[in-house]
Amino acid sequence: MIWSLPFLFLGLCMRTHSYEVLDLYQNFPEIRKNGGFWLVKFYAPWCGHCKRLEPVWNEVGEALSKSNIYVRKIDCSRFSSVANEFGIRGYPTIKLLVNFDSVLDMFLKPFFIHSITSNAAFTFTGDRSKDEIINFAVRMAGPAIQEIVDPEILPKFLAVNKLFFMYIGDQKGPLWNSYKEVAKKMQPHGYFYSVNENLVKSHINVSDVPSILVYKDSKPLFFSGENLEKKKQVNASLFKWVNEERYPTFTKVTIGNINEIMHIKSIVLAIVDEKQLQNIGSEMEGIKNLLEDFAKEFRNKYHKYYQFGWIGSPDLANSIAMQTLPLPYIMVLNSSTYEYYVPEEDISDIDSRKIDAFLEKILSHSIPSYGGNSFFTRIRRGIFDAYVAFSEIWSTNPILGMVLFGLPMTVLSFVIYTICCVDFDAGEQEEEEDDDDEDDHDKKD
Ligand SMILES: *[C@@H]1O[C@H](CO)[C@@H](O)[C@H](O)[C@H]1NC(C)=O
Ligand SMILES: *[C@@H]1O[C@H](CO)[C@@H](O)[C@H](O)[C@H]1NC(C)=O
Ligand SMILES: *[C@@H]1O[C@H](CO)[C@@H](O)[C@H](O)[C@H]1NC(C)=O
Repeated sequence: MIWSLPFLFLGLCMRTHSYEVLDLYQNFPEIRKNGGFWLVKFYAPWCGHCKRLEPVWNEVGEALSKSNIYVRKIDCSRFSSVANEFGIRGYPTIKLLVNFDSVLDMFLKPFFIHSITSNAAFTFTGDRSKDEIINFAVRMAGPAIQEIVDPEILPKFLAVNKLFFMYIGDQKGPLWNSYKEVAKKMQPHGYFYSVNENLVKSHINVSDVPSILVYKDSKPLFFSGENLEKKKQVNASLFKWVNEERYPTFTKVTIGNINEIMHIKSIVLAIVDEKQLQNIGSEMEGIKNLLEDFAKEFRNKYHKYYQFGWIGSPDLANSIAMQTLPLPYIMVLNSSTYEYYVPEEDISDIDSRKIDAFLEKILSHSIPSYGGNSFFTRIRRGIFDAYVAFSEIWSTNPILGMVLFGLPMTVLSFVIYTICCVDFDAGEQEEEEDDDDEDDHDKKD
């Protein structure tokens, strides 16, 4: 073992020498004048989620280092004026800044031009994984709607792309105008394409032209387009539909996107431990697959009420439930009350019939609910989170635990800190952006 130590250190050194994203300093305004796309992480050194994002951010930086997107980070505890300017309410916040001047070299991308009248900043609200962040940046650096013109590409395209919206028909008329409008607004959240009817005919049965579809789970679902006559209502109903359909039928739920999903719908969650998911045939895998199949099979019945998904970090679920839940588990979260429901019976022999009965009971309010988002529940959640954080530190490093938590005052301030900085936060419902704030004391009361 001793022999391997030097190599271990060597390994560590090599890791620290790998790509590192640059910090922005006071010269931030100057840099912005240089044009281009800037993918910026607004962070604070004391924030735990920022630290966790750090390696991912460096990977993102490395992957985009040869593109026209500059990846940077800025320490908002040092440059609070920048944080104010961009309305940063929580850390980390990821934004793609598009510079006015940079629009010059994009004059050939007409859709994009419309959306930019001044410097624009788009907030990333998805799962903070390397792929999702890169997809977001690349998508935002292109036009809101991309036209598919190559018939050869379409079949490959349908096979590869997991979820996208597509307009079929001529690029004119009220439906097209609404689609353009919605695509511009929703560009941070999804892919929007446009295609000629003749091009798709052999791949997708299209009964109405023009029409709009979302392609997911390898099949098209059409926008029913009520009230096509009344322009205003098309916009509104198309927007609502796109917003509801932009998640996969069974999606991964994370700290980064849970608030956003809760703005749209209640959630039915399979709670598993991601680390154990790789073990094929495990119980974790079983519950996750069961719920996924259920979501697809019962889509028509429950789509209106629920977004189905899974959560790979039990901590988030435990924080919501304010207790250490058994794993794997199933939990339902009501988006308007922030109450949660759990199956009454043992989870080990659950099947789709029982899930169906469980959801029916919730909808008919004939099953007890827990949690919620009252002031006292928040305090309880804060205490629970502090307790979890403490026991984690204690179990990995008792000495540090002693140092940190030796004084009752420290414990108290930690409790207060976690109350104020919980991830799962209903207080943000009125807020469109910055959903996953850790540090939004202002909005609490
Ligand atoms: C609907 O979309 C059209 C697109 O041409 C736009 O002009 C109009 O302002 C939109 N209406 C509303 C209510 O958003
Ligand atoms: C279109 O519909 C016909 C008849 O309903 C069916 O046979 C065909 O497979 C469908 N094509 C596609 C691409 O789904
Ligand atoms: C969430 O709770 C509200 C208030 O009790 C209720 O009206 C609504 O139906 C619930 N939603 C779901 C999906 O259970």
